[in-house]
Amino acid sequence: MKIRFSAVLMLGALALTSLLPAAVFAQDLNFEYFRDEVQPIFLAKRDGNLRCIQCHTSSSSFRLQALEGEALFWTDEQSRMNYESASTMVLAGEHPLQSRLLTHPLAASAGGDAFHGGGKHFPDQDDPEWRIMAGWVAGADSREPISNVVPRIIQTNAAGEGATIIDPETNKVVGTITDIEKPHGITSAPDGSQLYISNEVMHSLDIVDSRTLRVKRRIPLSGRPNNVSVTGDGSKVYVAIMQRPGALDVIDTKTMKNIKTVPVDGAIHNVYVTPDSRYAVGGSIQTSTINVVDTATDELVWKLKMSSGIRPMIFDSKPDGSTKNIYVQLSGFHGFAVVDFDKREEVARIEHPPVPGEEAHYDGLQGAPAHGLGVSPDGTTLWSTSKVYSAVYIHSLPDLEEVAQVVVGQHPEWVTFTPDGKTAYIGTAGDNATVAVDVATRKFVSRIPVGQVPKRVGTALMAVD
Ligand code: HEC
Repeated sequence: MKIRFSAVLMLGALALTSLLPAAVFAQDLNFEYFRDEVQPIFLAKRDGNLRCIQCHTSSSSFRLQALEGEALFWTDEQSRMNYESASTMVLAGEHPLQSRLLTHPLAASAGGDAFHGGGKHFPDQDDPEWRIMAGWVAGADSREPISNVVPRIIQTNAAGEGATIIDPETNKVVGTITDIEKPHGITSAPDGSQLYISNEVMHSLDIVDSRTLRVKRRIPLSGRPNNVSVTGDGSKVYVAIMQRPGALDVIDTKTMKNIKTVPVDGAIHNVYVTPDSRYAVGGSIQTSTINVVDTATDELVWKLKMSSGIRPMIFDSKPDGSTKNIYVQLSGFHGFAVVDFDKREEVARIEHPPVPGEEAHYDGLQGAPAHGLGVSPDGTTLWSTSKVYSAVYIHSLPDLEEVAQVVVGQHPEWVTFTPDGKTAYIGTAGDNATVAVDVATRKFVSRIPVGQVPKRVGTALMAVD
């Protein structure tokens, strides 16, 4: 027979101490750790399983509170009630296999109970989510420290569920983030702990745990989002709000709260934190306006109206780190414009010539013949993709001479680079693939099959166990 810890507690601490010399007391089960790390496991969708919350708001003595209305997470008061209920399901201390919370959803072959009406969610005790729960039972107040961080390329699939994770060492798919229907932009925490993906269906910024690959929290936004960007220190994520009237939402990553909706000029498609983190720059297709927000005050400080809708942008820096130019693609224009950041005006425009031997495509351009820009990490080249010629055009910086055209595949879109600057990755939306191009030789390296219509692609550091 299993002992319920809460019952044991009533016998008195003395009896308990003699029973379990190194015991962690039930009151030592950490509430914040439970709220922020354990509870997400009850909301997460694991392949082949229903979510714990689908069943446990009723029908068992392990009782979770129902989410109210459109709520995406429990209130603190509800979390407290969940905590009380979960606490009765565990024997606090190093007793994972005497805790029903851990043994019920664990495979019997791994030490779990023979049967759970909700099925088996965790195949073994190494499962990262199971380990989070075991840590809580053992009295931990924080996660196991991150030991190993690696670069990853994250491709969001605009017409598929979730995002595909690519290892740039091998150019192989090493994971998939599911449970985000219609993901848009991707960025990540600099310490590798988590990814941030905007969710166009739930109107949320979804925080994905790097070690479990599960959605850990969904933060409600002021409207339907497009792209996202993070400050260099990881403290804030800016989310472009595409739903009119448009805004930039500011997410505090520590408190996991939407702390401000900054009014700007027009619905915002893309947002970028400048390389020095001093500004968040949002572009509007609707009003053809570039909006520059000061990240210290989160106020709009200047704006610039261009000749047509603002598509992807990218920046380069002066030797002191401050922003030199904004390179910007525009609706209906096959090329990019150059905006001097200090002068706050357009200073040049480069139109891409045809690629010899390549047939031009005009189908499904969505008003944007060129829709993807990147500056190589060493700052010496600018990469601009063309859906018309299935290619990426590479220009030298700062003189903006075209130095190469590389045919990459149908409907190439966003561009990202590995942190060492050796390889560029481009989402080719028409080929359901991410393409790797060697930066030094400017040669096609690899085509990696991903999900449906891969557009936004980003580089992340990710913790791996
Ligand atoms: C399909 C519905 C369903 C899902 C999903 C589900 N459970 Fe259950 N769970 C049940 C039912 C029914 C029982 C009662 C029968 C039993 O003990 O297996 C139960 C029992 C339990 C118990 C024991 C309660 C007691 O009275 O001792 C725990 C703990 C538990 N579940 C945890 C979980 C966790 C954690 C998850 C998610 C990882 C989960 N369950 C997912 C249906 C579900």
